[in-house]
Amino acid sequence: MEYKIALLPGDGIGVEVTREAVKVLRLIGEKYDVKFSFEEGLIGGRAIDERGVPLPQETALLYQRSDAVLFGAVGGPRWDTLDYALRPERALIKMRKDLGTFANLRPAKLYSALIEASPLKRSVVEGIDLMVVRELNGDVYYGEPRGIEGEAGEERGYNTMVYTTGEIERIARVAFEVARKRGKKVTSIDKANVLETSELWRRVVTRVGREYLDVELTHMLVDNAAMQLVSNPGQFDVIVTGNMFGDILSDEASMLTGSLGMLPSASIGGRVAIYEPVHGTAPDIAGKNMANPLAAILSAAMMLKYSFNMDQAASQVEEAVIQVLDRGMRTQDIFTEGCQMVGTDEMGTLICQEIKRREP
Ligand code: IPM
Ligand code: MN
Repeated sequence: MEYKIALLPGDGIGVEVTREAVKVLRLIGEKYDVKFSFEEGLIGGRAIDERGVPLPQETALLYQRSDAVLFGAVGGPRWDTLDYALRPERALIKMRKDLGTFANLRPAKLYSALIEASPLKRSVVEGIDLMVVRELNGDVYYGEPRGIEGEAGEERGYNTMVYTTGEIERIARVAFEVARKRGKKVTSIDKANVLETSELWRRVVTRVGREYLDVELTHMLVDNAAMQLVSNPGQFDVIVTGNMFGDILSDEASMLTGSLGMLPSASIGGRVAIYEPVHGTAPDIAGKNMANPLAAILSAAMMLKYSFNMDQAASQVEEAVIQVLDRGMRTQDIFTEGCQMVGTDEMGTLICQEIKRREP
């Protein structure tokens, strides 16, 4: 077996954390006799610096012909003043659409060793294990018309929130299928008391839900959901929502688990899937060997599971993460008293050692 992985580290800590994920994948490859070949591409700010555009043609060709994409993060203050069309973030938005990855899975799970790192009380967060299924190819992110028009001083900026029946149906199906393999509960989040887009969303999700009578479906307004996520997060199993609400709520959900540095994601539904940590480039700690590589490593585990059907290898990576955390090893973002602080590369090495120690 040979798999081609497009490696797109991007900017800031994206570079350091993906390096550790690659270390883990290489080891898994040796252990399970699967060949992973990595080809690196330029994307985001570094691509702007070196090629003048955030997504060079060669990078687009690279991900199109790969079996999976391992992505780090893009962006940073250096490029924030650029024209919107030239921003590093455009590359990610474009790649998600190019590859048709319409379903973004963002699991938020509280590792018991990290309970003290959560900003919320133990009684509130204990046992949190939820999955945000975020629609990734539609909504105001892509809706037309969009733009800024008019005379300086009296301009008008506008975007279009839009979802079609087909787009809602396919993301709803993903959510119900995922829920079937988990706690059999779906909470669909929208703003149906105000927006027509949401009115249609709710109608279509309800209809698709009738095909999954074994899964319990509830609807929740997004403002209420933001509140419920901090007051009673234990009620959630699978959350399904649109691109914009999903972006916001998944950051909120991640923080419950202690750190944004722990959360992986998989963007599936297209020909090639994208695996990326939920966190950004963290310019303040970039290049200092301080970043937490676990979100990237857990994203690699999702790759093993969703793209290569290597469920056992994926579980091994997850178990290794649990083991290393249980032993008290922490990067600075999840550090609490009595633990041992380690750097990015050391954390990656610890995970590898743990995987090596395990029977296949
Ligand atoms: C994310 C990010 C991206 C998004 C940005 C970088 C375009 O915040 O993956 O959540 O908004 O989708
Ligand atoms: Mn985001």
